Amino acid sequence: ATDPFIERLLKRMTIEEKAGQLTMNGAQGIGRLVNPDTGPEPTLQATLDEIANGNLTGLFNSDDVKLGRTMQQIAVEKSRLGIPLIFAADIIHGLKTAFPVPLGEASSFDADLCVRTARATAVEATAFGVQWTFAPAVDIARDQRWGRVVEGAGEDPWLGSHLAQARVRGFQGTDLRANDSLLACPKHFAGYGAVQGGMDYNTADIPETTLREVHLPPFKASFDAGALSTMASFNDTGGVPSTGNHHLLTDILRGEWAFRGLVVSDFNSEKELVDHGYAADEAEAVHKSITAGCDMSIQGGLYLKHIPALVKSGRLKMAVVDEAVRRVLRVKKALGLFENPYRSLDPARMATDVRRPEAVALAREAGRKAIVLLKNERSLLPLPKSGKSIALIGPFVMDKNNALGPWMVFPDMKSAVTLEQGVRDALGANAALSVVSGCGVERPIEGGIDAAVAAVRAADVAVLYVGEATNMSGEGASRVDITIPKAQVDLIDAVAAVGKPIVILLKHGRALELPNSVKNAQAIVCTWFLGSESGNAIADVLFGDFAPQGRLPVSFPRRAGQEPFYYNHRSTGRPSMVEGPPVGARYREVSTSALYPFGHGLGYSTVAYGPTEIAAPRITMNGSLAVNARVTNTGTRRHHEVAQLYVRIKVAEVVQPVRALKGIRHLDLDPGESVDVEFVVTAKDLAYVHADTTMRTDAGVFEVVIAPNSVAGRPVPFVVSRS
Ligand code: IFM
Repeated sequence: ATDPFIERLLKRMTIEEKAGQLTMNGAQGIGRLVNPDTGPEPTLQATLDEIANGNLTGLFNSDDVKLGRTMQQIAVEKSRLGIPLIFAADIIHGLKTAFPVPLGEASSFDADLCVRTARATAVEATAFGVQWTFAPAVDIARDQRWGRVVEGAGEDPWLGSHLAQARVRGFQGTDLRANDSLLACPKHFAGYGAVQGGMDYNTADIPETTLREVHLPPFKASFDAGALSTMASFNDTGGVPSTGNHHLLTDILRGEWAFRGLVVSDFNSEKELVDHGYAADEAEAVHKSITAGCDMSIQGGLYLKHIPALVKSGRLKMAVVDEAVRRVLRVKKALGLFENPYRSLDPARMATDVRRPEAVALAREAGRKAIVLLKNERSLLPLPKSGKSIALIGPFVMDKNNALGPWMVFPDMKSAVTLEQGVRDALGANAALSVVSGCGVERPIEGGIDAAVAAVRAADVAVLYVGEATNMSGEGASRVDITIPKAQVDLIDAVAAVGKPIVILLKHGRALELPNSVKNAQAIVCTWFLGSESGNAIADVLFGDFAPQGRLPVSFPRRAGQEPFYYNHRSTGRPSMVEGPPVGARYREVSTSALYPFGHGLGYSTVAYGPTEIAAPRITMNGSLAVNARVTNTGTRRHHEVAQLYVRIKVAEVVQPVRALKGIRHLDLDPGESVDVEFVVTAKDLAYVHADTTMRTDAGVFEVVIAPNSVAGRPVPFVVSRS
């Protein structure tokens, strides 16, 4: 339905004003409101003039709420039509209160947690004058070499969709017009996580069935949850860059899905159509982008520069521009900006809504829940708080700079809690603790290894905090070796040779290939980048104040050469066999299995799964199947279990994954307690993308299993008949 208010506005707009509504600039380098007497810096004055002339729709990545308010006043009071600006920013995992990186938070498998951290982020971001976040990243990522694995929810489309919805709901809240609501922008549409070789910005060759089965579902789920914007990805898919991809941005998004929001380019990606060799020059790039369905250009200013001339020359239809402007105005209206242009532009909120104690406490909770215990031989963990001396070793132990993790635009490094601080606070003043960094992240330190070895010799147990620095994952940070840098491996090897029990704490933005000395350690813990409360969250788990409960959202390969590597791969014609002749799909050097599979994660207790049971293993298309398994806490501590439901479509016209996650259940079990977990499977859970690209369910034979991870358990068959 057309909106009379927007149509009236559109009629009054010049083509230059329309192009302005489709143009957003980055706030970096535009200067500041230095002094009320001398006025703004000259570069800022230029931006203020653009706003007064109606040449800008908004700005992104500014954290200056006062300046935002001044700009809004100019837009509303001085520009001819008084259309309010919109302020965007990359608020990925918090603003001043940093939550775990999204991949880490995904390890919680906990949608409720994601809603709460996104909500807290929205409260803080809107206090900084941000109304639109370029998040969540919902790219399904199956190659750990890609640096941006860290920004998403991992390799699985079901989990990715589940958590994407949660994040959208958290950011946007229940009323998009509220002062503390943050417009979500699920990104990057689409296929960005499939860049070849895991190299950022590379080409992605994705068959349509895989695109729809794997990469699109988290976007659709986000839009179903109410997200009103998306960002076109940098990559091309089958030779068509996303920013100029009519099939993606119009046929699927607007045609099939009836998406009513707006599409924004990714930092000049419309200009990159020229670099791709998909457009001859800037004007053609703009023409192709806007006609494909990319409504707003960010950073490069090319829409403002070229749209008026393209329309005046007749090359670009006014109707195409009008439709893009309509979408932008509709989103601004949905955010309540026309009624209340100063929403989220209240400097007074800085005093009350930034680093609120409850947000900081939530960061600690999220940090604890993001931690995944991979291995814990002879129950080395938790460590006792007294009676054992500890050597805390590694380049990250005393380091605040790498606590928060990548993609913090306005980081508050100072407030980060280091591991040393977290451990000291947990152990108290009389802690038997020695602390040695031993090496830099990628460089040895003279005498560092000797000092570390001496400390470990004198201690009962060594805790090593090792892995990747912030700049080793994230945008433009793809890696060929997804390992721990050599300087640190030398340190770990030397410490391991001492022969004391070792706990490895991994800091990382992806699944890593682990060196032998790490693999052989008694305990291995994934701690990702946990944000502001990093050191406290780790100490909570290390000393048993909180039992680990995270699960891997990405598979750990044995060797990097297995990448792209993910549990839900399609069945091959020669399934790999551990034993037997060398004709299966496998490598010569290592088993094809994961070192630690998707879904894996231990607690401080032990758990046993009974067999998966189906009461009546035959259902019709309209029916539903109750699937049960008994889960028992067989240990002596309370345990949090994440029971996982996997299905397999045994025969299909498009070869299907060996297993696919379809549901999870969080269980809290007392020692000795058993619960009967039940999942209900319906035809919808068994649908797949057919060769004609439609999603539907076939009658046939299926398998289902309830298991603690993606490779455990014995699947049981059932049949679905037409009637
Ligand atoms: O939102 C980001 C995107 O993820 C990568 N390029 C820059 C954008 C805006 O900062």
